[in-house]
Amino acid sequence: MVKRAVLTVDKRFVVDQVDRRVYGSFIEHLGRAVYEGIYQPDSPFADEQGFRKDVLDLVKAIHVPIVRYPGGNFVSGYKWEDGIGPKESRPIRAEAAWRVIETNQFGLNEFMDWCKKAHTNPMMAINLGTRGIEEAMDILEYCNFTGGTYWSNLRKKHGYNDPHQIKLWCLGNEMDGAWQIGHKTADEYGRLASETGRAMRQLDPSIELVACGSSNLDMPTFAQWEATVLDHCYDEVDYLSLHQYYANKGDMADFLAGSVGMDAFIQSVATICDYVKAKKRSKKTLHLSFDEWNVWYHSHENDNKLAPWTQAPHQVEDTYTFGDALLAGSLLITLLRHCDRVKVACMAQLVNVIAPIMTSGTGAWRQTIYYPYLHASNYGHGTVLHTLVDCPKYDSQTYGEAPYLDAVAVLNEAACEMTIFAVNKDLMEAMELTCDLRQFEGAQVVEHIVMTSDDLEAVNEEGCERICPVPNGDAAIDGGKLSAVLPKASWNVIRIKL
Ligand code: AHR
Repeated sequence: MVKRAVLTVDKRFVVDQVDRRVYGSFIEHLGRAVYEGIYQPDSPFADEQGFRKDVLDLVKAIHVPIVRYPGGNFVSGYKWEDGIGPKESRPIRAEAAWRVIETNQFGLNEFMDWCKKAHTNPMMAINLGTRGIEEAMDILEYCNFTGGTYWSNLRKKHGYNDPHQIKLWCLGNEMDGAWQIGHKTADEYGRLASETGRAMRQLDPSIELVACGSSNLDMPTFAQWEATVLDHCYDEVDYLSLHQYYANKGDMADFLAGSVGMDAFIQSVATICDYVKAKKRSKKTLHLSFDEWNVWYHSHENDNKLAPWTQAPHQVEDTYTFGDALLAGSLLITLLRHCDRVKVACMAQLVNVIAPIMTSGTGAWRQTIYYPYLHASNYGHGTVLHTLVDCPKYDSQTYGEAPYLDAVAVLNEAACEMTIFAVNKDLMEAMELTCDLRQFEGAQVVEHIVMTSDDLEAVNEEGCERICPVPNGDAAIDGGKLSAVLPKASWNVIRIKL
């Protein structure tokens, strides 16, 4: 029997405005993300600054609002000064986080130029692994001071007369992880984050700061880490970070239930933030920055065999399947459902490294996960409505009870539009979806985009995009009632004109 799902929405029951920064991404000096990804001066696709134009086009189509940079694990050993000034004088370093050679031919100013061309904004991470307060103040002065000081004058000398005005800063990266260069206890990190944040704000009170939460939900110190760190720096920071990657261990239904795990993770971290808020009798509510999320498992075996100390190796390069794209869609839906707390999120990463975009010497192409990201970023604007999903459920090994349907409705009153994003996780059967929209008089379906395949393992390759969306869904509104058939294993975007 065909499964049925009912969505209930009411335009008066809103979660919150979507913060566009929830569609952020990430570029780390890792593998071929920077070199051969966004920057490749000797490529036929390079512009006059060495940026790959084919990549810029694919990035611009997503409308990426922010890009986190330069790491990741890389930032915890990075000297940002290595990447500024004349390229011929920049040092070549042994980069310890990923055990590769870093030429520093791409650095802070190149990144800022690239951001402009990609129509995006920086989310800058500072090194709190090997470095500390002084270097954080230096880079902030270099970037945001107008002039008349040592670092701002140096920026001018480097050809950047106007300050970069970087608003959003990450206080280190995954500082709880034993793999992190200079990793710390929660007390050590909390103190450092607090003092660094305070000093940075003395220089520029307009900036926003992200403190490191746990590296993932499985960290043994999870929850205690968040509580202790925030005990120290609650007043100084604006966001707490969450990171989580999802792996398919051979059970597709379980893998697709990963959105239940993300949902619980967000709720837990929000609860810990509120616990510290209560303890401190604070009036401030801390928001969340889910600044690393994605699917990551395909590349592990290959990476274990990589020889160290090469430059820009094929490292952390996952080739994504159609099944991976379904989970990416469900994760985006989950982030939207929590848009009252999650104000920043970054799909990690953007190009070549666990990325929606891949490059070779002969071109650039879209992986399967590109499309849910593209749709959410292009159509998921406005306010998220509380979206009640009444549908059959299944038992998943890792996450317990999971719904067969993930869905969310986003109302864009300014554009007189509403978009419903939905993933049918049933691998065997289509699902009939209905939703009472009589409240939205005259509402009509503009298009129902569907991405589906009989082959959950199908991948996109250069010159062969097997998986791509098609606007051939049957969603329709009759008498104020929306009905649609969501094919088995499908990503759906139902666009409605109000
Ligand atoms: O995104 C790849 C890596 O994953 C990042 O460098 C690190 O922060 C995380 O562990």
